[in-house]
Amino acid sequence: MSLQRPATAVRTLPHIPEIDSRLPAIGTTIFTVMSALAHQHGAVNLGQGFPDFDCDPRLVDAVDLAMRSGHNQYPPMTGVPLLRERVAAKIESLYGHRYDPGEEITITAGATQAILTAILALVRAGDEVIVLDPCYDSYDPNIRLAGATPVHVSLRPGSFAPDFKVIAAAISPRTRALVLNSPHNPSGTVWSGADMANLAELLRPTEIALISDEVYEHMVYAGEHQSVSRFPELAARSVVVSSFGKTYHVTGWKVGYAAAPAPLSAEFRKVHQFNVFTVNAPMQYGIASYMADASHHLGLAAFYRAKRDRFRAGLASTRLRALACDGTYFQCVDYSQISNRTEADFCRWLTTEVGVAAIPVSAFYAEATEQRIARFCFAKRDETLDVALARLAEL
Ligand SMILES: Cc1ncc(COP(=O)(O)O)c(C=O)c1O
Repeated sequence: MSLQRPATAVRTLPHIPEIDSRLPAIGTTIFTVMSALAHQHGAVNLGQGFPDFDCDPRLVDAVDLAMRSGHNQYPPMTGVPLLRERVAAKIESLYGHRYDPGEEITITAGATQAILTAILALVRAGDEVIVLDPCYDSYDPNIRLAGATPVHVSLRPGSFAPDFKVIAAAISPRTRALVLNSPHNPSGTVWSGADMANLAELLRPTEIALISDEVYEHMVYAGEHQSVSRFPELAARSVVVSSFGKTYHVTGWKVGYAAAPAPLSAEFRKVHQFNVFTVNAPMQYGIASYMADASHHLGLAAFYRAKRDRFRAGLASTRLRALACDGTYFQCVDYSQISNRTEADFCRWLTTEVGVAAIPVSAFYAEATEQRIARFCFAKRDETLDVALARLAEL
């Protein structure tokens, strides 16, 4: 872009400078579009991934107490020490890896900021970063903001399992990082211990860093969550990201964390310091106090398993075919018995004509991919799920 306008150019004042967009292909996200459509048509919103019920009032009380106790000024840049200590203790008790809360845990403004910060810290212009499609929508633009190239590799169609041969083939001398997400949004699949061992073997001869998005770590319904922090070899090359928004039903609070070995955390913090600097104090103190009771995160799987089972039982009396859901609060369905529409058209139609909003899985792919699969979010009150199911039964 030329920064000088020709002297002859006719200019009306005031003049807004022309901007060469850093993200020219980005519009409003599908989640926002579908939520707006759901609102407009009075549809039950099973599209965007957030609960329609409130969090535990004791968590609100803990934040309230923090504010009333004067925790209203800048907390330390890396996060409130007690919260970092509790995060370290949780990871150690669940996954057996001790992160140093002083050097290796950083509190972030949600997982989204942690992922962007990790990418900006670890990735250079000209690098490549592997993402596994379908994937969460922030990864690709985050990589582009770092001046790097996202390399999209598809998970296996149908099962959404990793295909390590295809991933291996995508690795080049320029590959700097790989973004992993298990439990997986949108498919609800969960990587096994064998998958993690395969990943470790694949990465062993490389300098590739891992950004492990584990925001659904406490929503696993089959076996145990295989955090990369369980695997010393993987943990040594990883930034592990999680979200209190998902775990404590407070997506609007935007508080999460990143755990990484000291040298990676040091780089992460350099970017964090001049991005958000620090995260709101009362939420951090409130969450730290609430976290002392581990039953709040340990009980999450049973809580969501009941909702998953209720939703799947209801889907069994519809013509939608429920795919496996071993983790997250998302349930994917195959609608090929009902319609030949594209996923985007089907979801739009489902929202406006049937009154249930869903998200097309095609929205999570870089390449045009049509599998006749839609994603529902079951983080909803039972009454909400029942109303949606009654409408879906009419299909
Ligand atoms: C896979 C994945 N990563 C990250 C996030 C964002 O988490 P946060 O709200 O803590 O930024 C989400 C939210 O939907 C998600 O599904």
